[in-house]
Amino acid sequence: MTNDRIKILMVCLGNICRSPLAQGILQQKLNPKKYDVQSAGTAGYHIGKLPDVRSINVARKNGIDITNQRAAQFSADDFDTYDYIFAMDAENYANIIALANSEEQKEKVSMILNEISPNSNAEVPDPYYGGPKGFDNVYTLLDTACSIIATRI
Ligand code: 4NP
Repeated sequence: MTNDRIKILMVCLGNICRSPLAQGILQQKLNPKKYDVQSAGTAGYHIGKLPDVRSINVARKNGIDITNQRAAQFSADDFDTYDYIFAMDAENYANIIALANSEEQKEKVSMILNEISPNSNAEVPDPYYGGPKGFDNVYTLLDTACSIIATRI
């Protein structure tokens, strides 16, 4: 049943570079009948836009199509919808936590790279102002983290 699916939200700043990749990668590793994976940005600059072409390209190179995605902004209501909320960096994490109004909501939120290195609070670097190599690096980090999430979730 659709409503019984486990719901996972990937969050970055603009929802056009990192979290769309995280969404596409994790979706590919999980059964869509059991898991609903979405993404959002803490900022609203890019609402309604396609992912950045550099994210589209690195996903495509790895066999994943993310062109069905459109950017959305994180809102406090997402705490009610989602079971797990993964932040890409410390700033995203702080901005999400600032909107929580209970310990239960805060407990849903974690830094995605803590899946690889627990408690490290390592960040997925923002690739927006760099070149395509930054996107390859983001892809590798997220693929590793999402493989771990897919085995334990
Ligand atoms: P994202 O990257 O948070 O990974 O989607 C960014 C996208 C846009 C901007 C910054 C980061 N921006 O400043 O517009």
